[in-house]
Parts: sequence; structure tokens; C-alpha cells
Amino acid sequence: MVREHFPFFEKNPEMVYVDSAATALKPSCVLDAMRSYDEAISANVHRGVSSLSQQATTAFEDARTTIAQSLGVDFEEVVFTKNCTEALNLAAHLLSFQLEKGDEILILRSEHHSSILPWQELAHRLDLQLTVVDALGALSASTLLEASSEKTKVVVFAHMSNVLGILQPLDELTTLAKEKGWFTVVDGAQGVVHDLRSVRAVDCYAFSGHKLYGPTGIGVLTASKELLEAASPFIIGGGMIHKVAFEQTTFADLPWKFEAGTPPIAQAIGLARAVQFVLEHKDVLDRRVHELSEWFSKELAAREDVVVLGEGSHQGVFSFFVRGAHSSDIATLMNASGIQLREGHHCAQPLLEKEGISGLVRCSFLAYTTKQELEKVLSALDKAIRMVKV
Ligand code: ALA
Repeated sequence: MVREHFPFFEKNPEMVYVDSAATALKPSCVLDAMRSYDEAISANVHRGVSSLSQQATTAFEDARTTIAQSLGVDFEEVVFTKNCTEALNLAAHLLSFQLEKGDEILILRSEHHSSILPWQELAHRLDLQLTVVDALGALSASTLLEASSEKTKVVVFAHMSNVLGILQPLDELTTLAKEKGWFTVVDGAQGVVHDLRSVRAVDCYAFSGHKLYGPTGIGVLTASKELLEAASPFIIGGGMIHKVAFEQTTFADLPWKFEAGTPPIAQAIGLARAVQFVLEHKDVLDRRVHELSEWFSKELAAREDVVVLGEGSHQGVFSFFVRGAHSSDIATLMNASGIQLREGHHCAQPLLEKEGISGLVRCSFLAYTTKQELEKVLSALDKAIRMVKV
């Protein structure tokens, strides 16, 4: 039902791919949409009267419209970037126009480095207070409130940590933030695939295409028009200007003011198709991830030497270590059994440091994964444990 959409499996019949949190596989409809632009149009966008360029512009801006409508935000509020990291950097740039010395940013310790470093840099540059909040599962509004102060202005958290795999309750957290007048900035890299409709509740929401069944090379920042209008451009050059003169240059309207240079055209078209794919198949995609996660969670819990990080209901992301074994040994042995997964600090060093863990093995899957594949993962894990424990 779901798997037949993914040509990867025909090309790699023996491989067990459980590295979907690093990048998701792409369905044929996404690959077809990009190929069709590259084969039949291929022209650059926003290049005047050429009919081919006009076709490219229409396809590209239609993609933005599809994404905006699917997320429930306005066309002007969808800025294409090259990835989620760039989108998070842009979010910090926008917020730099709203903050002043002494203001406080609350941030989760479990954030991915891309969601920590822009705020660390901003805090240093503007003399802001960066306050770290701990949560190994769902962050509650009361924890956030307790960590806050009179100076709190921004709350930064991942919709779902790439290590812990637990979705955050966006409704509860954004409701509190609105009450308190805080800006919310959400790293949606891992969460957006499970919950597209919550994006609209957040002031700045960043995600990448390639974890949403879409292409690499594209990310999105959705941000309110007020934030986008108040900020100066971020990256400057062609494509984002109204008029250039040595005396004075004026910039393009939203969202183009933030899109310098040739944008990721085929990727935007592919991403729009990926978003449609998720909405068309939402029930089955959600059900499969939920059922597989429940079952896999119980299987891991039954292995006494395996410790899974993250408290709550995992959404297809399981990071664990094996007592008495190096995670790199376990991952290498599992990979020798044909399992494609990720091991290490997962770009979340502050979290691992706090937990006293040097590395974790991570299995991450989406709706195209089968129970038979996860059985192979478990059997490779058991074999690896037997080998390292002799
Ligand atoms: N952040 C991505 C991951 O967790 C790259 O693998």
C-alpha cells in the first residue's frame, strides 16, 4: 500500500533502511515531479518575458502556494532556504530585530546543534541570556513556565528531537507562549512529517524537504509577515532586489526579499508534491508509524541490556545503547548484517554529555518500513550483542 510508492526498495531488495531520521526515502510522485520540470522546462525563474522562464516561475510559485495552503500559512510567509539549518539561521536573524540586551531565550538541552548554535551566537552578539531546559519526553507548559522569567522573550524547541523521537505538544506550548507574549521558534526537521497542521501555530517554523519524503537541497522557514517585514535581508544578491543603484538599493517584496540567487526550483516542485503525498496518505502513514513504533518499543524494552533514551511514545525514532558495549561496535556489527542506521552523538552533544552517554545507536523508520524489516533489525541487534558480550 505505502511501500509500492518507493522505488528505492526495487533497487535495494536486500537492504534494511532504518535511517529515515537522517533522510527519508522519496516516493515516485516526488521523483516524477522533479524529473518532469528538469526534462520539459528546465528554465530559470523570474527571468522576464521568456515563455519557458514564465512556465518555470509558475511551477515554482505554484509549489509555494501548495506548501503554504497545506501548512495553513500565507504565501508570503513561506521562505525557501537550502535546508533546515539555513532556515534556523534565518529565524535567529529575524529575532535579532526583536530582542535587546538582557532578554532571555529558553532552549531545550536536547536540541540538534543546528538549533543551538544560531541562538548561542545571537546571545553572545546581543548579550542575551540563553537558559537551558531539560526534558527527556514531552515538555510541559508548567516546566516551561517554571524555567521562564520576566526577561523571557523566545522559546526554542524541536517539534521532535532527532534523538528522543517524542513529539512535543505544540498546542499546549504555543498557547502558553501566546499568553506570555513569547516568540516560538520550532525546529520541525523531524516532526513536520508527522504533524504538518501544527506549523501555523508557531512564529518561526523550520524544516527541510528531505525528511518529509522530499528532496535534499531545500528547506523552508515559515514566519509571520510582521517578523519578516521588520528584518533586513539575510543573504543578499540577485533575485531579492527591487532596484539596485550605487546610491541606494531597494529590496523585493516578501517572500523574495529572503531568497537571493537562483532558488532550488526542481526541489520546491518536489517538496510541494511530497507535502501533497503526506496529506493524501495521512491516515495510513500515521497508523503505520504508530503501530510499528508501539511494537518495536516493546521489543527493545524486552532486551534487558538495551537502554532506549526518550520517555513517552516514540514516533519511529529509537536511540539506544547496550550496557557494557560500545555503540560503534554494535552499529558496525548491525551494518555488517545489512542494516543501514546511524550511530554517534547525532549532533546533540549537550544532551548526551548531560546523560553521560558517549554514543547511541539509532534506528529510525517511516511508513514504508515493514515489520519484517524491523525483525531483521532486532535479530541483527541480538547477534551483535552476543558477539560483543563473549
Ligand atoms: N539531523 C539529522 C539526523 O539526525 C541529520 O541524522
